[in-house]
Amino acid sequence: MKMENSKEKKDKHFSLVIHKIARLFEPPKTILEPYIIKGQVVADLGCGPGYYSLHFAKILGPEGKVYSVDSDERCIKALEKKARKKGYTNIEAHATCASDLSFIDEASIDFIFSNGLLCSIAPKQRETAVNEMKRILKPNGLAFLSAARGSYSYMIMEEWEKILAGFKVIRREDKSSEFIAEVSKQ
Ligand SMILES: C[S@@+](CC[C@H](N)C(=O)[O-])C[C@H]1O[C@@H](n2cnc3c(N)ncnc32)[C@H](O)[C@@H]1O
Repeated sequence: MKMENSKEKKDKHFSLVIHKIARLFEPPKTILEPYIIKGQVVADLGCGPGYYSLHFAKILGPEGKVYSVDSDERCIKALEKKARKKGYTNIEAHATCASDLSFIDEASIDFIFSNGLLCSIAPKQRETAVNEMKRILKPNGLAFLSAARGSYSYMIMEEWEKILAGFKVIRREDKSSEFIAEVSKQ
């Protein structure tokens, strides 16, 4: 019998309280509005409890759609509860790994929002998740990628460079605390 390697790096999940505190520093309106317009289709990958997904749903309106994906089932349940309360019917939430987005058609997404996913995803899933991003993004679509840096993050400069090399980089900012980039397909 093959023994499971207990040292294998797993997805990082956070408590719902930590998610709430983190959001205090990131006003959604200023972050999201430049990227999307009503009626578009967005993928919020590693969406957490849906703080941004809910704002996307509001901005996109009923003709638009948000695919919200997180491998933490607690987050997806919390998001679905909030969406129901707000009466949003344009969020399709999936408790699954971002490395398999087979429920999203190829070249169907206008905007990918990947805030904090690539530093939290188990490193062995990262490349497949990035390939899925490339597959679902429209030729003229845009992706916002961010990854925290530091001891609690799986992301290092070398990996970040490797990821960005597979896209056309529109803007990048390498801060001491995080990497941020706006990218499109090559
Ligand atoms: C730093 S949090 C960011 C949450 C959210 N994007 C935000 O900005 O509020 C990273 C999220 O990625 C999720 N995550 C980690 N590994 C994942 C994977 N393999 N697939 C999908 N989501 C994952 C975690 O559960 C967590 O909710």
